[in-house]
Amino acid sequence: MGGAVVLGIESSCDETGAGLVRDGRLLGQAVASSMAEHVRFGGVVPEIAARAHVQAMTPVVDRALADAGLSLRDVGAVAVTAGPGLAGALHVGVSAAKALAYALDVPLYGVHHLAGHVAADTLEHGPLPDPCVVLIVSGGHTSLLLVRDLARDRIDHLGDTLDDAAGECFDKVARVLGLPYPGGPAIDLAARGGDPAAVAFPRPLTGGGSGGGGEAAHTYAFSFSGLKTAAARWAERHHATGTPLPLADGAAAIQEAVADVLTRKAVAACRAHGVGTLVVVGGVAANSRVRALAAARCAAAGIALRVPPPSLCTDNGAMIAAVGDLLVRAGEPPAPDPLAVTVDPSAPLERAALHPAPAAAMGRSV
Ligand code: KG4
Ligand code: ZN
Repeated sequence: MGGAVVLGIESSCDETGAGLVRDGRLLGQAVASSMAEHVRFGGVVPEIAARAHVQAMTPVVDRALADAGLSLRDVGAVAVTAGPGLAGALHVGVSAAKALAYALDVPLYGVHHLAGHVAADTLEHGPLPDPCVVLIVSGGHTSLLLVRDLARDRIDHLGDTLDDAAGECFDKVARVLGLPYPGGPAIDLAARGGDPAAVAFPRPLTGGGSGGGGEAAHTYAFSFSGLKTAAARWAERHHATGTPLPLADGAAAIQEAVADVLTRKAVAACRAHGVGTLVVVGGVAANSRVRALAAARCAAAGIALRVPPPSLCTDNGAMIAAVGDLLVRAGEPPAPDPLAVTVDPSAPLERAALHPAPAAAMGRSV
């Protein structure tokens, strides 16, 4: 009586992920990361990431199956991240998914990576309420969304970042502070014991005065590039006076600024749209201060907060399987021509399903 077992494959950045989901339940998963190979470059090197995916893909799929106690014969559908992400990295996952779907003679679903981040939460907390407000905060994206039926409906963007993503901001600030890549976890760790009020870093686009005209149009938009500059000036001032950098205070204050802006806007969006549930997802949702401040502000506003556990916040295959499972159960059509599915590295988030064909992918200018 159960539905199909969906195998999800993720390879958009530096994590190779595979997961198995049926009827909203996570059966097993595995992730391999090439993070360590990028550290000395201070960021993900696309060619290194793509090669690492090639090497990791088969073992990761095998490990996920073993984790679930299943074999390939049990897989009833395959879902894969078709975009957005690094083109070469995406191609590895899409090629593997096509090969598996073809060999097993099962349907293939191309999936939007960010819809995967949203669906990750369903594996922990069950079906999403309709509607809910979703704050996606990852290394490449920061968006406030109004989500209805994730599998069937168009996704409404209430606001997006005008420049850097929140994770990108953490990664760049960490560099300025001499902390390793990836910067988010490093800042989270460095901030422990620091005073978040030690430095008054700006709160961009919160309408707090200095923004000048036009802020009203940016009620739910974000801007984080100025924080990187502010952190650099702060570090320079210390270097110029020869005083040691109070790293814990600086990290805590930056983290506070990011968490404050994210949660303030997310709660305001819930209120304005009369929505009772906020879902916070993506790599930055693993941040301890973002989680704590979101919890406090949602509690004060009477809003239910859902945040996946940190291991489901960063990239993984289970979240892609979760989208595939939702699409299967909603009766959404799989890719009409599975072998023609290609990648769309800059796909905007419009729907959970993403089935780019070669002509469409080439037609878009980045
Ligand atoms: O969602 P994700 O794994 O990959 C993308 O789709 O981008 O997000 C990665 C981002 C990186 O910028 C990383 O620094 C950030 O998530 N991140 C964190 C934490 N863990 C990961 N940022 C703040 N605090 C954390 N604990
Ligand atoms: Zn991601």
